Amino acid sequence: MRVGVAGLGHWGPNLARNFAELAELAWLCDSDPERKDVASRYPQARFTQSFDELLGDPELDAVIVATPVPTHFDLARRALEAGKHVLVEKPPAMRGHEMEELVALAQERDLVLMPGHLLLYHPGVRRLQEMIAAGELGDVLCIYGNRQNLGIIRSNENALWSLGVHDLSVILYLLDEEPETAIALGRDFLTEGVEDVVFCYLRFPSGRIAHMHLSWLDPHKMRKITVVGTEKMVVFDDMELERKVTVYEKAPWRPSDRYGEWQTRTGDIFSPRIAPDEPLKLECREFLRLIGGEGDRRKVAEDGARVVRALDLLTKSLRGS
Ligand SMILES: NC(=O)c1ccc[n+]([C@@H]2O[C@H](COP(=O)([O-])OP(=O)(O)OC[C@H]3O[C@@H](n4cnc5c(N)ncnc54)[C@H](O)[C@@H]3O)[C@@H](O)[C@H]2O)c1
Repeated sequence: MRVGVAGLGHWGPNLARNFAELAELAWLCDSDPERKDVASRYPQARFTQSFDELLGDPELDAVIVATPVPTHFDLARRALEAGKHVLVEKPPAMRGHEMEELVALAQERDLVLMPGHLLLYHPGVRRLQEMIAAGELGDVLCIYGNRQNLGIIRSNENALWSLGVHDLSVILYLLDEEPETAIALGRDFLTEGVEDVVFCYLRFPSGRIAHMHLSWLDPHKMRKITVVGTEKMVVFDDMELERKVTVYEKAPWRPSDRYGEWQTRTGDIFSPRIAPDEPLKLECREFLRLIGGEGDRRKVAEDGARVVRALDLLTKSLRGS
């Protein structure tokens, strides 16, 4: 499998490192010639400043897009049109209809279109999904995400698109449904038009609800997702080194001898062992597996589309339209 990575800024070199291990890293591309220094680590790969030159290689199977968000849609579309499988950093597009176009193009040409939703490959998030699917939590009632920190203060993407895309991808993956209501409130305190503090509320057709607090103006550094079920509650905390997942045997309980009255039940609190595998490596492996014909490539692309649709709805709400 011959792979090319476009965008060698902060994140792209991580993708290059993984694909150099897992496949044949054939091309490295960045419009900035200064990034050629990354290419010097991979003598087997050719460096180019031109995305078209990379696409022009008929032997190239797949393209990884790790450029700034506003360029994703255009580069992913061109790569699909050139017949390449595409792994594109999140979010692959900034509008629902653009994402639909990418999904349609990938399906028409039977190509893989995988959004780089890193957390979906995190062994801790996988564990959460397994627990939910096995019914261990009872019925899931609500999920909420906290993604807060002081910095990095961005000036081109707001907190919803920059931070919220992570939580949203996990929430939709865990609940496996699309929100019917999406409300977002926030403010652009530092840069006009770029919201740095955003609160989101989602309600799903099943009646389950979700919330996200997204901010880079906050004293806490939090990367946390909490799932509340009728039998158990679980927290995925990505700031923890060892206890990434904590299960609380806490639940509402209605004893039969006190009809109608709710009490709470509290049992053990424990942390299952979570494999320390690098989520990015698992994500890259999954991309290669999909190209190899394993897994469900259509679903991966469609799951990406529902994240962009939800972001679109939340943006409309945020802007009051
Ligand atoms: N999954 C994650 O956890 C995660 C983490 C960090 C960044 N990202 C994503 O990775 C992407 C890149 O982020 P970053 O922080 O590395 O950005 P960055 O600005 O550091 O790097 C982007 C690079 O792309 C290059 N570039 C821009 N337009 C190009 C084009 N048309 N062709 C070729 N190269 C081009 C720039 O010169 C730059 O070197 C973003 O989409 C970001 O959201 C994902």
